[in-house]
Amino acid sequence: MRGMMLAGGAGTRLFPISQVASKQLQPVYDKPMIYYPLATLMSAGIREIQLISTSADLPIFERVLGDGRQWGIDLSYSVQPSPGGIAQAVLIGESFVQDQPFALVLGDNIFHGPIGLEDEVSTFEGGAVIWGYPVSDPQRYGVIEIDDSGSVLSIEEKPADPRSEFAVPGLYLYDGTAVSRAKELVPSDRGELEITDLNLSFLQDGELRAVRLGRDATWLDSGTHESLLESSNFVASVEKEFGYKVACLEEVAYKMGFVSVEEVARTVESMPSSPYRAYCERAILG
Ligand code: DAU
Repeated sequence: MRGMMLAGGAGTRLFPISQVASKQLQPVYDKPMIYYPLATLMSAGIREIQLISTSADLPIFERVLGDGRQWGIDLSYSVQPSPGGIAQAVLIGESFVQDQPFALVLGDNIFHGPIGLEDEVSTFEGGAVIWGYPVSDPQRYGVIEIDDSGSVLSIEEKPADPRSEFAVPGLYLYDGTAVSRAKELVPSDRGELEITDLNLSFLQDGELRAVRLGRDATWLDSGTHESLLESSNFVASVEKEFGYKVACLEEVAYKMGFVSVEEVARTVESMPSSPYRAYCERAILG
């Protein structure tokens, strides 16, 4: 399965720090934000990945991430000329997905712990799969009602009066019909092709399933100053308490068998002396 990461948007909520770099390049504790969703895709065995961002920010992403060879993946890039909505990513990625199933992750979403993506990817048979995560402020997100079997009863974007506490994180699995469905969407009142409308199209055909995230999984949307700080604090506390790094891409690549220990050693050699390099040496090279 291929993967897409959406890392554009206006970033207005993070002004003035968004003037320095796009939201998804901001630090979340000790790594650029985009490392986290990239690690999520890689941990599910996804190796062909396209990153979509603005023409101004793409060169920086390319400088930071390169072509992915150092992690045994194939990273390509595509421009979203203006923020026309999350579902527009599906249209931009049309030639990349080539009617095949794909995963889409938002560049400001951080997942930690068991989310079942690897299982969903390996058993995916068609339709769409989304996730549901209980939150105290569901009106900020897409919201789903799910029954015990994982069937979705309803889905609404930022409802004033949410029907459940289950927010829809920015992680979606789609079959190849997503492209033709996205072509049918009309922009919402805020002028965007809404991902919730795409999911609604699958729901109307009985093709939408949801995975309920348990208490052992964490989902953070880092799109505001508060949630950015919360994400950094979360990663820092996990790393300090357990002594491992969250979303160390060299470690993920090695554990997934994408690269050999010799290849990691070559990558590490090119890193400047830093706690990140020291961690890679300790955790992977022994
Ligand atoms: O984070 C999960 C939520 O993401 C979902 O629950 C909602 O259903 C979904 O609509 C979305 O809501 P947000 O209000 O958080 O979306 P936002 O406009 O902040 O965009 C999310 C990310 O996608 C952000 O990193 C910027 C990027 N983006 C967004 C748009 C609209 C793009 O790259 N291009 C775009 O056109």
